[in-house]
Amino acid sequence: MDQAEQLRNIIKMNHIRQKSTARVITITSGKGGVGKSNVAINLGIQLKKMGLKVIILDADFGLANIEVMFGTIPKYNLRDAIEGKKKLKDIITEGPMGVQFISGGNGVEGLANLNKIQLSNLLRGMEQLDELADVILIDTAAGISDNVMEFVASGSEVLLVTTPEPTSLTDSYSLLKALNNYSGFSKENTEVKIIANKVSNMVEGRNLFTKLNLVTEKFLNMSLGFSGAIPMDEQIIKAVMKQSPISISYPNAKASKAFERLAAQLTGTQMTGNKRSLAEVFSNYFHRKSDK
Ligand SMILES: Nc1ncnc2c1ncn2[C@@H]1O[C@H](COP(=O)(O)OP(=O)(O)OP(=O)(O)O)[C@@H](O)[C@H]1O
Ligand SMILES: [Mg+2]
Repeated sequence: MDQAEQLRNIIKMNHIRQKSTARVITITSGKGGVGKSNVAINLGIQLKKMGLKVIILDADFGLANIEVMFGTIPKYNLRDAIEGKKKLKDIITEGPMGVQFISGGNGVEGLANLNKIQLSNLLRGMEQLDELADVILIDTAAGISDNVMEFVASGSEVLLVTTPEPTSLTDSYSLLKALNNYSGFSKENTEVKIIANKVSNMVEGRNLFTKLNLVTEKFLNMSLGFSGAIPMDEQIIKAVMKQSPISISYPNAKASKAFERLAAQLTGTQMTGNKRSLAEVFSNYFHRKSDK
């Protein structure tokens, strides 16, 4: 039995459920520093304020963005679960306002080289997380590396954060182009929605989306959704410095209000694709890896 077949058997044995309880949203970007982690934490807080249970998975391995922004030091990280020292549900850290998160640690190599038992543990843990949360937000690294692409292609709902900077727009397009060519990606199964961040006004945000959508429709035959715009707001920078999310430290700031609208928009819309659970997202991810 080759490794790919072994993995498929493990995944089958784990009875990855077709129906999930949690909605899994992957947050990504073509270019770094455009605001993914801020979107993850503030969207998380706003969803929590709406009464939903939220878990953020920090999949930007090695950089520990979420814990730094939350100002909370986790005791354990994903590596402890992979190594079998802890159950996945025991490595959840409580962040501000009860938004929970899982620190990725330096998990990236770990994820690529898991053995049968480790993989099995991880997938079982993912199923438990699906039951513990209403929404799971995955904060990925930026760019078109294989690891990011695999995460993005494995998910059913993706938020692509873009800013008005010309390089952000071209990098977003490059990511979409790479995604479109990625084996296993399907437009039907993965819905991509734009968040325009650091805009000077809402019209600029809408225009940014329209521009990007025009090119992807024309050259990639792919339609994007629009989730909304977040204004450039000095208070975000202050909040990051204070290690306290803007939605908590400055709840009436322009950007906090925009995150509130974003959360309302997301919960008010139905997904068009097939909803995938966290366990399914990960099992897709490992399928791809093992097929290489
Ligand atoms: N709407 C905004 N207004 C002002 N500053 C912002 C806004 N959004 C993000 N920033 C600032 O931009 C910087 C990058 O934000 P953030 O860390 O969330 O980006 P990222 O995409 O997660 O970056 P990385 O790719 O490095 O993980 C931070 O210093 C943050 O304060
Ligand atoms: Mg980040």
